Amino acid sequence: MTDINGLESVYFFDSVSDLNLFIQKQNSSQINFLCDSNTYQYCFLPYFNSNTYSVITIAPGDHNKNPQQLFFVCEELLKLHADRDALLINLGGGMVCDLGGMTASIFKRGIRFINIPTTTLAMADAALGGKTGINLGLVKNALGTFHHANSVCIATDFIKTLPQREHISGFAEIIKMLLLFDCKEWNKIAQHPAIPAADNPLLSGYIKAALAAKGKIVQQDPFEKGIRKSLNYGHSIGHAIEAVYNEKSDTLLHGEAIFWGIQLENLVANQMGIMSSEWAVNINSTLSQIFPLPTQINKIDKIIESLRNDKKNKDEKIQMTLLKEPGLFVINVEVPLDIVKHTLKHFNNL
Ligand code: GLY
Repeated sequence: MTDINGLESVYFFDSVSDLNLFIQKQNSSQINFLCDSNTYQYCFLPYFNSNTYSVITIAPGDHNKNPQQLFFVCEELLKLHADRDALLINLGGGMVCDLGGMTASIFKRGIRFINIPTTTLAMADAALGGKTGINLGLVKNALGTFHHANSVCIATDFIKTLPQREHISGFAEIIKMLLLFDCKEWNKIAQHPAIPAADNPLLSGYIKAALAAKGKIVQQDPFEKGIRKSLNYGHSIGHAIEAVYNEKSDTLLHGEAIFWGIQLENLVANQMGIMSSEWAVNINSTLSQIFPLPTQINKIDKIIESLRNDKKNKDEKIQMTLLKEPGLFVINVEVPLDIVKHTLKHFNNL
């Protein structure tokens, strides 16, 4: 059943067996799966028939979302004699969906693909919206395209295969969407600030609400010229923290950096007179009950330097989406670097 219909159809499945039947019915010259070594082991082998489908497996982790692996997948598709009617199924988290989507957008000038996100984060955000990409050196998503998946298939059973830390971190993208667009669902979280487990129906409710909101926004602004910029809430500072903390090795998960980014950007919004102190305290204290953050931010100068290079900036000003209160936000706010620096330092003294 299509639950959300926008530029991409989003299907929710009660079980992976139902999803499997859906895949079997796909009409295509050839179906190839793309997995990383984790999703191959925990999400492909237990559920899908390895005699029926070819599988291309890549190394896991965001640092492997790189040109070498992109070319590797293209070469594997050539070896499999994939033609323009072939279908690529990305089974994995944001990294597999982003890299697989980019492969599908350039291989033989574009083939169809389906995203089957296996992480909370990819289910709530990355798998939908047509953004594909890979990193180049330290610059996240420096190369990429807009190419929409034919379908996005959600089976929350896959979340059971995730380490708890990954599940918790993925919740950051759900929080972001609900704070921006769905006060009713946000209020439910504010009343019970806890992260539901994979089999809790509250979780599918939150994911559906996040995707419904995202589907609408992407349909209105597929190429991020206006309202889609709202989805960058929490990501300006969040991405800078992520890049700096992960420079030598992966220490922070994306969602963990975004939890930080959302709280810090709320403090920036307060400094800029956009968010009241009451809302800043109210939202941030709910967030810190859900996800307790380290109390100290290190490498502030490097974070500021990284923000200076953010691809969303214009004329050397930091462009941010800031929240006024749940359900109300402002895009394209030009934030002086000094205010961010002050906020990062002040956070350490709270
Ligand atoms: N992840 C933000 C977007 O798709 O625009």
